Amino acid sequence: MNKADTKKSYSISDWPDTEDLLKRLYRLANELPIHQIKRDKMQEYMNHFDTKCAKSKEMTNRAKELIPGGVQHNLAFNYPFPLAITKAEGAYLWDVDGNRYIDFLQAGGPTLLGSNYKPVQEKVIEVIKESGPVTGLFHEYELKLAELIHSHMPSVEMFRMLMSGTEACMAAVRAARTFTGKKYVIKIGGAYHGWSDQFVFGMRVPGVGPLDAHGIPAGCYQFTQEVFPNDLEALQKRMEENEQDGGTAAVFLEPLGPESGTRPVLPDYNKNVRELCDRFGTLLVFDEVVTGFRVGLGGAQGYFNVKPDLTVFGKCVAGGYPGAGGVGGRKDVMLCYAAGLGGGPGGKRAMVGGTLSANPLSCAAGYFCIKAIEETGAHLKAGAAGDRLTKGLADMFDRLKLPFVAFNHGSICHMETGAAMLMDIKNPNIFKEVGARKKVMEEMGAALMAEGIITLAGSRLYCSMADTDDVIDDALARFERVFKHIEIKKD
Ligand SMILES: Cc1ncc(COP(=O)(O)O)c(C=O)c1O
Repeated sequence: MNKADTKKSYSISDWPDTEDLLKRLYRLANELPIHQIKRDKMQEYMNHFDTKCAKSKEMTNRAKELIPGGVQHNLAFNYPFPLAITKAEGAYLWDVDGNRYIDFLQAGGPTLLGSNYKPVQEKVIEVIKESGPVTGLFHEYELKLAELIHSHMPSVEMFRMLMSGTEACMAAVRAARTFTGKKYVIKIGGAYHGWSDQFVFGMRVPGVGPLDAHGIPAGCYQFTQEVFPNDLEALQKRMEENEQDGGTAAVFLEPLGPESGTRPVLPDYNKNVRELCDRFGTLLVFDEVVTGFRVGLGGAQGYFNVKPDLTVFGKCVAGGYPGAGGVGGRKDVMLCYAAGLGGGPGGKRAMVGGTLSANPLSCAAGYFCIKAIEETGAHLKAGAAGDRLTKGLADMFDRLKLPFVAFNHGSICHMETGAAMLMDIKNPNIFKEVGARKKVMEEMGAALMAEGIITLAGSRLYCSMADTDDVIDDALARFERVFKHIEIKKD
């Protein structure tokens, strides 16, 4: 494949039949009994952790004394206890006890080239040998990264680098309000846009509003609203109502659907939201923290051919290195962040800051990572691995007569078993069942880990360029060792 092909193409080979998929997903979450791993097998897996992961257990038990919950990051909080990882390379991770794992967590998404990809690592080391990781002053790689992103995503006329996706979402809200002078922000229920005060709202489960907003005064999310995924009518109604009360500054969405497409969008959804935003003078913000560069160099916006006003970046934007966040978009809106005097309407400025933002390390890592994706077609290779993995899982579920659902959008793969991520507030059993469903997911993650596979919370799998056919086939054999031991309950 030549370079021009890798630049233009996207990792999603076929958009799944969303209506059929949603039916199967909601049936799993709302109608079917919960299926778990047989108890004797689960006990075997628990014994495995005690004997084969003893050093991790000891270390993370000690960590509990000094680190709340024993780990510094939610992704690392695994059942029955977190693993201490010492080495990462390509498709694999190794723990402190010497166990090797196929890595489908991929650090939550950024390592599309595979873990610890040497050609990028070497270039990053050269840059920091010269300038150190930070000077506080302008560095060439800030410009190179902005130019490169602009070349792949024309909607990104200007780019502001920040330290995380959370910060970038906060910054996007601020610019949207400064620019439009409007007040409300509408998000799609279940989506994650980081953990800022205004976005701990309608997280994971659509319709829950501020259920997780402990420690956040109600005023902080007073102007955040959520609508159900794929419900355009509700979105339009909200926007109409808001017109009488200060207007809608922005609609935020993850373009594949909430939680990286766990509840996938209907094919025309993004285009229809674009039209609504145009009608109401509202900015459309795409949160491409996960999809940016992973779906393709043009992002999900290129795949759907829908132009957002602002795009939020994270993860791949710093190539799997720290300091991964940024906002890009229309020049007139982006000028609200102008350093010195603000360039927003009436000279207003949307304040953003960050001592370490846009440091040479993050910018060089992002630049060389995106260059490497261009050269290798990593998004396409990872997408093909995602297709092979998902097809293998779906065939396995059919063969073993399991009602579970596997689907993917390129390298972003979903494997729903307990379906905890698919419940919603309209389900009358939600509070009765959510605990049991979460437990099934947790146990699934643990069983797979004991079989040498690391997932995101037992239900999401990111593939990388390092996932060759052999890696995927080996993984599928390991999945089968777990799925053979599901206790089937009757309806
Ligand atoms: C879609 C989306 N937006 C925002 C964020 C927040 O990014 P960060 O963890 O860098 O703050 C995440 C993190 O997983 C995400 O998946």
